[in-house]
Amino acid sequence: MSKTLYIINGPNLNRLGTREPEVYGSATLTDIEAACRTQIQQAGFALEFRQTNAEGELVNWIQEVADQSCALVLNAAAYTHTSIALHDALKLVSQPVIELHLSNPAAREDFRRTNYVAPVATASICGFGAMGYQMAVTAALQLVKIKTT
Ligand code: DQA
Repeated sequence: MSKTLYIINGPNLNRLGTREPEVYGSATLTDIEAACRTQIQQAGFALEFRQTNAEGELVNWIQEVADQSCALVLNAAAYTHTSIALHDALKLVSQPVIELHLSNPAAREDFRRTNYVAPVATASICGFGAMGYQMAVTAALQLVKIKTT
C-alpha cells in the first residue's frame, strides 16, 4: 500500500496570506504545507503537496493520485464550482478523498453552491480556515487506517 498522502490545491491558493485575508486568513500556503508535513511525518506517512492554477494539471495530478497515493485532500478552489473534468477525474480515485475549503462556500455567493467535487468525495471539511488542513489530514489518515485494518 502506498503511504503517500496527496494534498492538492487549485487556483489562486498560491496567493493565500494576502488574498482576501478577511475570508481566507493570514496563513500562507507555505505555512500550511509546513504544518501538514510535520503532522504527516509524525504519523509515518509521506506528503506530496502541490498547487496549480491550471485545470488540466489538476486532472493529471488526480489521475496520479488514483495510481500512487493512499488518500487525497483536495482544495479545488473555484474549479469546485465549475469543473466537470475534475468531477470525472475524481471518479477514477478509489482511495479516500477529502474535499476541503478554508471558507464555507455554502454561506457565500450563490454561485459557490454549485459543487462538482462533493458528490464524488468521501467527505467535506469547510469553514475552519487553515486549521481545516490539519483536520482533513487527520480524517484522511483515519480513513486509510480503517481501510487497511
Ligand atoms: C475556496 C472556496 C472557493 O469557493 C473559492 O473559489 C476559493 C477558495 C476555499 O478554500 O475557501 O478559491 O476553495
